[in-house]
Amino acid sequence: MKMRRLLLFLLVPLLVCAVACTTSTQSQDRVIKTPVPQRPAGQTDVLQLKVDPIPVVRIAFIGLGMRGPGAVNRMTNIEGVEIVALCDVIEKNVKKVNSQLEAKGLPKAQEFFGDTAVWRKVTALPNVDLVYVATDWAHHAVIGVQAMKDGKHVAIEVPAAMNLDEIWALINTSEQTRKHCMQLENCVYDFFELTTLNMVQHGLLGEIIHGEGAYIHGLQPYWDSYWDDWRMKFNREHRGDVYPTHGLGPVCQAMNIHRGDKLNYLVSVDTKAIGNPAFLKEKRGEDVKDFRNGDHTSTLISTEKGKSILIEHNVTSPRPYSRMYQLTGTKGFANKYPTSVSTYALASDAIDEEIAKDHENLNAHSFVPKDVRDALMEKYKHPIARDIEEKAKQVGGHGGMDFIMDYRLIYCLQRGLPLDMDVYDLAEWCCLIPLTEISLDNNSAPVEIPDFTRGGWNKLDGLKFAQ
Ligand SMILES: NC(=O)c1ccc[n+]([C@@H]2O[C@H](COP(=O)([O-])OP(=O)(O)OC[C@H]3O[C@@H](n4cnc5c(N)ncnc54)[C@H](O)[C@@H]3O)[C@@H](O)[C@H]2O)c1
Repeated sequence: MKMRRLLLFLLVPLLVCAVACTTSTQSQDRVIKTPVPQRPAGQTDVLQLKVDPIPVVRIAFIGLGMRGPGAVNRMTNIEGVEIVALCDVIEKNVKKVNSQLEAKGLPKAQEFFGDTAVWRKVTALPNVDLVYVATDWAHHAVIGVQAMKDGKHVAIEVPAAMNLDEIWALINTSEQTRKHCMQLENCVYDFFELTTLNMVQHGLLGEIIHGEGAYIHGLQPYWDSYWDDWRMKFNREHRGDVYPTHGLGPVCQAMNIHRGDKLNYLVSVDTKAIGNPAFLKEKRGEDVKDFRNGDHTSTLISTEKGKSILIEHNVTSPRPYSRMYQLTGTKGFANKYPTSVSTYALASDAIDEEIAKDHENLNAHSFVPKDVRDALMEKYKHPIARDIEEKAKQVGGHGGMDFIMDYRLIYCLQRGLPLDMDVYDLAEWCCLIPLTEISLDNNSAPVEIPDFTRGGWNKLDGLKFAQ
């Protein structure tokens, strides 16, 4: 009897330890990892990359479909910008934008059109500082890489890269050439997002522990307008969140991703595909049985500092447009969508006395009254918005945020300042495209999100826009 007790005494802890060890190894094994290419010897990161000031920024635009011409127009409203080249596959797209320049009394730009490789002449031009890319998704990264190799800075529409090879190629090329590679993520500059970022940086919402973002936008009116049907083709061939950057960008900025925290892993769940195959059947008579992209894709991300992010994608259901944008902090909550009023709920001790003075019992169980919301929005208006809001609203582009994005890009280039968004932001926000597809194809298995800075994620202390 004594012997049995002794054996139990010795064996049980061993067994517990064995189970615990296996579980922890298994939980590590359960995370799917993708290869992280070693940084070549002598190459360093481009965190806070600074280059010589460029007082007059000469821009070449590639891709002049629905999105590109608006960008050209916005740039004509910024001092110290010259539009020197216009490029598109389609001749009339180039001619139309050039005649708009002429109508404004500006010099005509050099024209490039005719095929999908003509852009190579543009990135090789000697008189260009910045290449601005608004083509279909398939051409973003290849043009970006070549532009940097040809000595240009590059700004690329969202999503700037569609797979991990493209992401790593953009990172490596930016690190090798010391050229800026910025993704044109406009949604971080919307007025509520900028104000909220400022509130977060002033500690008003406490520590941000959870964020949500989305791209929920029925694209039925647009599907037939994209050049060569590129967008439907990509959705048809790929499961996963294929357009994550509008939702993820503002949340990552509020959470200081790669400026003190990092995205660790994600899991993704999707629905079956109904809406887009039905659209193809009804509008084009196509019977598509193998449509990959589900109607609704949800992705959960876990961060190194113990925070969570939910990102959703849906381009087919009958829902109001929504980028979600919700931040949950230890002292408050910011909410933009899907309601029409963007607002806050704050713990009673989080609101300034001056702003709360006419209200009793303000607390986070309900949203703040409208006058309190308006006062908060005014008090915490982001300095960038304060500087440029009026002009941004007048020039426009999604209500002004597109102009603020272009203005900030040029402002920083002209002064030799680090850009607001670097190539690692691009990588983190785009990597959901390939990584959610891996998760979904493996029964929603967790997939590691690489540290795209390759060791530098904790070097910077928070996000700061250069002034
Ligand atoms: N940030 C935003 O809010 C926002 C909004 C809309 C679109 N976008 C992005 O802008 C990009 C363009 O979208 P769009 O709606 O204008 O699409 P689009 O199909 O209307 O335009 C794409 C244009 O690129 C041209 N093109 C394609 N390949 C080319 C090549 N190799 N060389 C030169 N030109 C080429 C096509 O001829 C076409 O005119 C996409 O990446 C999209 O995701 C962003």
